[in-house]
Amino acid sequence: MSNENREIVEVDLAERSYQIVICTDELSQFAGIARRWLDEFAHWKSETPQAMIVSDSNVAPLYGQTVLENLRNDGWRVELFVIEAGEASKSLASTGKIYDALVESQADRKTCIIALGGGVVGDLAGFAAATYARGLPLIQLPTTLLADVDSSVGGKVGVNHPRGKNLIGAFHQPLGVFIDTACLQSLPERDYRSGLAEVVKYGVILDAEFFEYLEEHVDRINGMNPEVLREIVSKSCRLKADIVEEDEFERSGLRAILNYGHTFAHAYETLCGYGELTHGEAVAIGMVDASCLAEKMGRIDTHVVDRQKKLLEDLRLPTVLPENVSLSPETVLSCMKLDKKTVAGRLRFILPTRVGHVEVVPDVPEKVVQQILEQRLSRK
Ligand SMILES: NC(=O)c1ccc[n+]([C@@H]2O[C@H](COP(=O)([O-])OP(=O)(O)OC[C@H]3O[C@@H](n4cnc5c(N)ncnc54)[C@H](O)[C@@H]3O)[C@@H](O)[C@H]2O)c1
Ligand SMILES: [Zn+2]
Repeated sequence: MSNENREIVEVDLAERSYQIVICTDELSQFAGIARRWLDEFAHWKSETPQAMIVSDSNVAPLYGQTVLENLRNDGWRVELFVIEAGEASKSLASTGKIYDALVESQADRKTCIIALGGGVVGDLAGFAAATYARGLPLIQLPTTLLADVDSSVGGKVGVNHPRGKNLIGAFHQPLGVFIDTACLQSLPERDYRSGLAEVVKYGVILDAEFFEYLEEHVDRINGMNPEVLREIVSKSCRLKADIVEEDEFERSGLRAILNYGHTFAHAYETLCGYGELTHGEAVAIGMVDASCLAEKMGRIDTHVVDRQKKLLEDLRLPTVLPENVSLSPETVLSCMKLDKKTVAGRLRFILPTRVGHVEVVPDVPEKVVQQILEQRLSRK
């Protein structure tokens, strides 16, 4: 559904269904829409809705005041709680601070948590919302491209344990997701490009036509054209929502295809020094690796690999590891075997069969993976 400058994606999850609104420069419309979402539930409806905005130290100074004032003008009782920006804040310690602030502000079961920020804020505030008083209403207000197209959709919330990323978490679907693509203007360029890697991923795994759309609109994507941004964000949300609707709690295995490129990517992220690669950059390289693997196994021809490389390069994403990173195939292999998604040491990959379709391949011979790594790590 859409009007001229707004797209709406409906996520159909029975009583947990919700809307994703995608607009540009409409933060001032947020309160009205959020109130409508709350009003749909008799037990949350209130003349004076209560909310706590959770944001981080980069995003709060940019958009915190606008959202706060917009809600107050609409009659909400609302506070802003700010955490330090960065992945380190996705912790139980920060969750504890949010609980403290909720107690302090005499929050009750009607208090709505509004997550204003990237995936870190969304996952953390979402986890606090899932657990405080056995569950508070949550609204996602994502401000990074990764959060727009990935983390804010699907209901996975959680924090890191010192021994493992995303080890503590829950499924907690939001009441709604409000995406204002104008927020991306202030995003560091590298974070924008990282988000684009996940957008390309949706095209490869699910939708050849969308992949083609991306190929045809490279210049406007690079120029952050508002109309094209709304289109790629809403299409990505729709594609992710389709998967989540089929496999909300990650039981059927379907949700696994969203991990295309991620087995390689996680190994690179773990093995490269901090800050060397963003998640999206690692995914871009990992998708090309997975495609090379598929080609080697006779599942696709070179053309499918080359189209992905070309699109990723046009979007200024890397397709091989940076020159200064030197990893041996053995190190990468053993890291992949430790991946929590690896079952009994068997190497499982999501591999394309063509642009727009992938399959889960459960038992890829280690030797073939080794050969691909040798070839790819030596940048041949
Ligand atoms: N729940 C899920 O399904 C899911 C899926 C994918 C990723 N994630 C999680 O998402 C997190 C990564 O999210 P991310 O990439 O958005 O990182 P992030 O939240 O750390 O944001 C990246 C940086 O951009 C800043 N920022 C955010 N919005 C901005 C804006 N509009 N203008 C200027 N600066 C801005 C942030 O302060 C931060 O410094 C990871 O923790 C990952 O595990 C979760
Ligand atoms: Zn990812």
